Amino acid sequence: MNTRELQDAIIELKKQNDVCILAHAYQSQDIWDVADYIGDSYGLSVQASKAPQKTILMCGVRFMAETVKMLSPQKKVLLANPMAGCPMADQMDRTDVLKLRKQYPNATIVAYINTTSDLKRAVDYVVTSSSAVKILKQIPNKQIVFIPDCNLGSWCEEQVPDKDFVLVDGGCPVHMLITEDDVKSMKAAYPHAELLVHPEVTAEVRKYAGYIGSTTGIMKYAQESKNKEFIIGTENSIVQHLQFMCPDKAFYPLSKETVCHNMTLTTLMDVYYAVAGKGGEVIDLDDQVRIEALRPIEKMVELGG
Ligand code: 13P
Ligand code: SF4
Repeated sequence: MNTRELQDAIIELKKQNDVCILAHAYQSQDIWDVADYIGDSYGLSVQASKAPQKTILMCGVRFMAETVKMLSPQKKVLLANPMAGCPMADQMDRTDVLKLRKQYPNATIVAYINTTSDLKRAVDYVVTSSSAVKILKQIPNKQIVFIPDCNLGSWCEEQVPDKDFVLVDGGCPVHMLITEDDVKSMKAAYPHAELLVHPEVTAEVRKYAGYIGSTTGIMKYAQESKNKEFIIGTENSIVQHLQFMCPDKAFYPLSKETVCHNMTLTTLMDVYYAVAGKGGEVIDLDDQVRIEALRPIEKMVELGG
């Protein structure tokens, strides 16, 4: 089967088997083409709970599939490639959160969605990159412990200056590979290009950016902007997607190192096997974990709008 035939077979099978395919923005174009919804972590979470299909197939990483399962416990939720995790999500566990609670008894603990379900049970709020600032502004408490991404946390700190932030030592190993020198050399090579970055990059890189936002935010900004050239500081799949979306504009990766090997694990063949009922991992969460972790997720959907 060639790519087109495989895509046709997937589209037929997802109708027959009542499957909704969700694809994170970092997935490859051939997977985008068969997806019912493409988006950032926030958009995928919201969309999953609205989907009428009985089965949801997540083409992304494990914490995204687990979030879908929390929001739609009655549905069968599949992760297309069981090996696709997020290394940032494994940087802290529930015990670390409980220690922080003891250390900062009066603080509100806010976790990035890129965390495990078990950790989410112990926090007050969960946020995504696109909803973090909006949600933080609605939290009444002044002291915020933000985990585990210190880069997203420090960006939020700049956006919500009336709060006192405690940041921990964590972050995305992929976005943290981008350096200030990468910015200087790309800006020298493309002086008219605007720099668009994900808030997972470091503060040294972020300070040069014309726009900082989620994967969906970056794509929307680039599509709507009058500029013709852009340097993209996030996973490099976004460069190719933008090039397809805006053929009259030019997009350059800020660093050739910005490749998430977890996000790129999922192949079109994985999607085919999953919709055919022969592959993917069925996501099952312990009832207590699911119910307790759902509490901050529901708040995220309510306050994130
Ligand atoms: P988004 O919420 O922007 O999709 O980010 C998820 C992610 O893992 C980025 O590395
Ligand atoms: Fe996790 Fe970073 Fe990959 Fe996003 S890009 S899934 S934060 S490792």
